[in-house]
Amino acid sequence: MQVQEKGRDRVDDYISRGLRGFWVPVATSVQVKTGKPLARKIAGEQLVMWRDGKGKVRCVEDFCPHRGAKLSLGVVQDGNIACRYHGVSVDGEGVVARVPAMPDCALEGRKALTHYACEEAGGAIFIYLPSADRPEAPAFVPPVEFTNGEWQVFPCMVHWDCSYRLSLDNAADPMHASYLHNDSFTLAYGSKQDTMNLDRTKDGFVIERVGQKGVNLDSTEVVMDEATMFFRLDIPYPDGAGPGGPFRIIGFAVAIDEHTHHSFFWRCRQVQGLAAESWRFLYRAFLEDRHWFVLEQDREMLESIPEDARRREMLYQHDIGVSRLRQMMVRRAKEHFKALDAAEAAKSQSA
Ligand code: FES
Ligand SMILES: [Fe+2]
Repeated sequence: MQVQEKGRDRVDDYISRGLRGFWVPVATSVQVKTGKPLARKIAGEQLVMWRDGKGKVRCVEDFCPHRGAKLSLGVVQDGNIACRYHGVSVDGEGVVARVPAMPDCALEGRKALTHYACEEAGGAIFIYLPSADRPEAPAFVPPVEFTNGEWQVFPCMVHWDCSYRLSLDNAADPMHASYLHNDSFTLAYGSKQDTMNLDRTKDGFVIERVGQKGVNLDSTEVVMDEATMFFRLDIPYPDGAGPGGPFRIIGFAVAIDEHTHHSFFWRCRQVQGLAAESWRFLYRAFLEDRHWFVLEQDREMLESIPEDARRREMLYQHDIGVSRLRQMMVRRAKEHFKALDAAEAAKSQSA
């Protein structure tokens, strides 16, 4: 019994630090400027990213292999990152490129740091966070809205002082919109009572209200495939909000550590050509503030929830999406530990 409890804690702690084995967004594209390194903490790890000579984003541990200074305090030189302390530079594969203070230094050419695969899509930088069961980066397939040319997408990133798990729970719970956001521009409509239906999909599920569709935030799709974990939801927009049908949100929640996270939201509208121009203008001039208003309501509520609330919460029918999402995360975490334990066992047998 005690062993089981320990196992459960191990899985829960691992999930809280940041579930791995996914491509995760870490910054908007404009935040990683040419010639300037950017530090980020992701799932407890200190990382640094920069653009190399071709403008491609590179990411390694934020740790100088010489004596441990933060590389993010350094400068970009010849596409590599050079430490400010004594000038040692490292390339995007984590290999020491130069030790300028010492001719023919043996450190040059040595692999010194973990590096992370990087991709750019939808106006944001993604890195692959390996897990024990998925050590190699799978092909990065971003949400289709980023790539099919039919959607205008605006990325935004917020820092919230609560676990990323709460943001994911929040997304898997569409019913909260009728209460928490009932004074907002778009989410004030429809019934305040309903039951929820959950349909499993190939890579996740759709949680939806049974009694209404297209009135409020009436459904969310949660995707957890081989490469990404995100949610997709549609908010009906009134006629005055321009062309393009509902306002779609694509969201990722990324752990900084157990206590804080970045939520990434892509605000999407299915418009092209001139309609896209008018949507961009309307959004920037008028609608963006209203979206921030709604996000602030979510932030305030999620940051108010104690970290151990899961131990005493009392779920009801509307939480079937939350429960399903948690089960999926636990399943992925167990796959990580299965691989980890197998590797440890193999190591101790060969020792
Ligand atoms: S600590 Fe970075 S070069 Fe010395
Ligand atoms: Fe919300």
